[in-house]
Amino acid sequence: MARKKIALIGAGMIGGTLAHLAAMKELGDIVLFDVAEGLPQGKALDLSQSSPVEGFDSKLKGANSYEDITDADVCIVTAGIARKPGMSRDDLLKTNLGVMKAVGEGIAAHAPNSFVICITNPLDAMVWALREFSGLPHQKVVGMAGVLDSARFQHFLAEEFDVSVQDVTAFVLGGHGDTMVPVIEYSTVAGIPIPDLIKMGWSTQERIDAIVQRTRSGGGEIVGLLKTGSAYYAPASSAIAMAESFLKDKKRLLPCAAHLTGQYGVDNLYVGVPIVIGANGVERIVEIELNETARANFDVSVEAVKELVVACKGIEPALA
Ligand code: APR
Repeated sequence: MARKKIALIGAGMIGGTLAHLAAMKELGDIVLFDVAEGLPQGKALDLSQSSPVEGFDSKLKGANSYEDITDADVCIVTAGIARKPGMSRDDLLKTNLGVMKAVGEGIAAHAPNSFVICITNPLDAMVWALREFSGLPHQKVVGMAGVLDSARFQHFLAEEFDVSVQDVTAFVLGGHGDTMVPVIEYSTVAGIPIPDLIKMGWSTQERIDAIVQRTRSGGGEIVGLLKTGSAYYAPASSAIAMAESFLKDKKRLLPCAAHLTGQYGVDNLYVGVPIVIGANGVERIVEIELNETARANFDVSVEAVKELVVACKGIEPALA
């Protein structure tokens, strides 16, 4: 059986880390595409030279032409500019919208059957725009946000409870970052929901509230520390989990930005919800019942995404 082909559109910090992880896991052969000349070629060569040491057989290639992504099984999009300190995700809207147009057209022309994972921020609007520009089926285009937000939440919870991250599950809905909605009742340690753990004296509501807040501003905290860029290790790991579920038909249930057609009362918008990812892309959108608080927070989150999409339509009339 021929190897799978993974195209990484954008070979910056996240793109390079995606290539490293995909190669180490031997998910397939990898093409790093970027508009910057030399950057994808340099990273591909550097990573290839690690293969004898690590023992992986994935082939890596750097490219500046969309021809090289031809017939990719998966495209992971990080092309665009990253958030700088003091810059909100929304400031990125205009520049990255232009990038999504070029990338969407490139994917449509050369890899129309691929499963596309968008990472570029502001995520919920960019994944919507990328789908519009590419014209691919909605179930083949998703955004990576919830896996990262949940991972951040899980990490902080594991620290709080002093247990293995492996035993912590977190449930996050809504938009990426500031407007994400953690659903505490469905977040557990080995199946024990957080409210029960609070009753058992493992933590307090105040401490959990602080963890939720820290998770919401998790991206900003890292930007503040790095000063010259944004997070890349955890975002790359999160997108690879999604790609792996598609490539291996694992049917994992993961929180992702998916296109809603009435679920959760939302129509024609990408919002973070639990989905099942398998060989057909988004195979199921999981609709859970929300309590009043979560519902109110979810609605705020949806409004924020709606505003971004309206702004996109204002900038790019072709999207209206
Ligand atoms: N086509 C292809 N690549 C492009 C294009 C384009 N039109 N425009 C920019 N790029 C490339 C840049 O040359 C750069 O190498 O995208 C890459 C982005 O890499 P970084 O600046 O290192 O950004 P990174 O940290 O990888 O984040 C990428 O993901 O989480 C989001 O906010 C983040 O939107 C940002 C994206």
